Amino acid sequence: MNNNLVEMKNIKKNFGKVQALRGVDFNIGRREIVGLLGDNGAGKSTLIKILVGYEKADEGEIYFEGKKVFFNSPKEAREMGIETVYQDLALVNLLPIWRNFFLGRELVKGAFLSIDEMKKITYEYLKEIGIFIRSPEETVFFLSGGERQAIAIARAMYFGAKLLILDEPTAALSVGETKKVLEHVMRVKEKGVSVIFITHNIYHVYEVADRLVILEKGVKVGDFKKEDVTPQEIMGMIARAAGVIV
Ligand SMILES: Nc1ncnc2c1ncn2[C@@H]1O[C@H](COP(=O)(O)OP(=O)(O)OP(=O)(O)O)[C@@H](O)[C@H]1O
Ligand SMILES: [Mg+2]
Repeated sequence: MNNNLVEMKNIKKNFGKVQALRGVDFNIGRREIVGLLGDNGAGKSTLIKILVGYEKADEGEIYFEGKKVFFNSPKEAREMGIETVYQDLALVNLLPIWRNFFLGRELVKGAFLSIDEMKKITYEYLKEIGIFIRSPEETVFFLSGGERQAIAIARAMYFGAKLLILDEPTAALSVGETKKVLEHVMRVKEKGVSVIFITHNIYHVYEVADRLVILEKGVKVGDFKKEDVTPQEIMGMIARAAGVIV
């Protein structure tokens, strides 16, 4: 029996005349970190938006834990354990950390929010997984890009995600912050969660990935176990797709 967590089969999507996805097969194993790579416009974001029900495929099928699924919205996907973290939309800037942590899943007692409890859990859970914040009441606006990513990842872990999707989590981060995000990704895997890590930069994902998938103009052009490919080879494939001679 096939034991993949997710199987996307023959996914096609057009936006007007743009063929964003031209029949893509994409699988994610259990406890697997998959690096999803490709140049601008390759179809990476569209593929995961279809997976989580943010966009509708024109054709194709999706299986989650062996069952055929169709998510109408990211909320439905989230209820099944699929969490997505977007680069800029990961958190609500004007709200404090604890509000962000529980956003849409607030703890209530009777008619009231359990504010103190939510603050306490936020602070303690973050600490437990090695993310030190000054206070859960701090507004997210004042955090660095790496800290925001870390909190979004922690939130997904706390709420028991089975699959974590990170769309360009390291695009705007320094080398040090990128390293920290990669450490969190490894920790997520240790908890038994699978991860899709979207990036342009093979060096941001190579260290933690089990498998690397390359899209080019809506077509999957590579699907490698990490042992079978070097970062230089992947770079070459992405650059060729972009028409750059290397
Ligand atoms: N909502 C939309 N309406 C029209 N065209 C779209 C839409 N979303 C994506 N596209 C087009 O589909 C193609 C794939 O876009 P997608 O965002 O999936 O690429 P990507 O690989 O995530 O690129 P990037 O690395 O720049 O984020 C592009 O040509 C893009 O312009
Ligand atoms: Mg994208």
